[in-house]
Amino acid sequence: MHNRGYYGEFGGAFLPEILAATFDELEAAFEAAKADPDFRPAYLRLMENYSGRPTPLTFAENLTRHFGGARIYIKREDLNHTGAHKANNVMGQGLLVKRMGKRRVIAETGAGQHGVATATMAARFGFECTIYMGEVDVQRQRPNVFWMERLGATVVSVRDGTRILKDAINEAFRDWVSNMDTTHYVLGTACGPHPFPEMVTYFQSIIGHEARQQIMAQHGAMPKRVYACVGGGSNAMGLFSGFLEDSVELVGVEAGGHGLTSGRHASRLKSRDASVGVAQGYKTYFLQNNDGQMQETHSISAGLDYVGVSPILSHFRDSGRARFEAATDDEVVAAVELSMRKEGLIPALESAHAFAQAFKEAPHMKPDEAIIINQSGRGDKDIFTVADAFNDPKWREFIIGKAEKYKKR
Ligand SMILES: Cc1ncc(COP(=O)(O)O)c(C=O)c1O
Repeated sequence: MHNRGYYGEFGGAFLPEILAATFDELEAAFEAAKADPDFRPAYLRLMENYSGRPTPLTFAENLTRHFGGARIYIKREDLNHTGAHKANNVMGQGLLVKRMGKRRVIAETGAGQHGVATATMAARFGFECTIYMGEVDVQRQRPNVFWMERLGATVVSVRDGTRILKDAINEAFRDWVSNMDTTHYVLGTACGPHPFPEMVTYFQSIIGHEARQQIMAQHGAMPKRVYACVGGGSNAMGLFSGFLEDSVELVGVEAGGHGLTSGRHASRLKSRDASVGVAQGYKTYFLQNNDGQMQETHSISAGLDYVGVSPILSHFRDSGRARFEAATDDEVVAAVELSMRKEGLIPALESAHAFAQAFKEAPHMKPDEAIIINQSGRGDKDIFTVADAFNDPKWREFIIGKAEKYKKR
């Protein structure tokens, strides 16, 4: 599929000289693990006994009836330990860290899900852990910061740049350069220099492999389309991996924010606002200006507002293997509400982008066709954002009451 980390023209490893040996070591450890017949079974056992895998594929009977088109199935990555697909990647990388004999892990996080998952993995394996997070995201995702710290991680609030995910990634790379001998950087998505896109996809492919077997067992045929939200691209690559060789349409859904003509979105593959560039060690589509300066992005969901995207997905876009769409903040909130009311499911705001796009398309499909939507995470973490979006007066009263109680202390 690729030539040492290249997917068409995208990918590669554009590294400072000083990190070259560390990347060689990582690639060698990953290749050795893949070649070891005990590694994948050990990984699958760990995910079964620690994270609750396989996650179910739920037939959404009420939503299917509501739209009157395709049969809607939902892959339940929200049921992983820590509430998102991020666990698949961090537990796998944790096993690699053990093989490399390192004892400290660092990570970047946007929504906080990857940070919580990494802090959890570090607690379980006995590693020291530092998490880098943009100051804006620290403010948006305080509950996840609270849990990371309680799990024993040090959370560093990054004040550089626009104070979101890309800035946290830069800071994590800075740390890695100074501490490579002891430290592994647990990159949270299918981006970054080779071998990260391939390695993260290898661990996340557990989603697609399970979903493929489950849809055959439940529906008796391949789905017509599969939908996943796209931040860096790891849950999408995970789901797509199960269907690459089939004539299944792969649909990736980006953050449309206030709309693709508003300049307030994070769409690199659907909008025409992105261009090919090299940053953060790899080549892909970036939202950047003519001087290569990264642009400010916006999304209601902290996990989808990254300026770059997996080089594998950039290649899929240009080769036509996948289709990319965008859902707006308003469509996403409406999709969360509908999923709650019709199925009792609370998708994360990130995942709800995939739901929103599938909801637009399902009514126009035939009743014997099936689609799979990846519920990459659960929405509990978004309670503050969702309550604001619904303008819930009782929630407002509750928060004001709490704040007054704290002031009196
Ligand atoms: C629940 C959830 N879904 C999706 C994403 C986006 O990441 P990716 O595109 O790597 O799956 C995040 C990122 O934080 C997330 O927390």
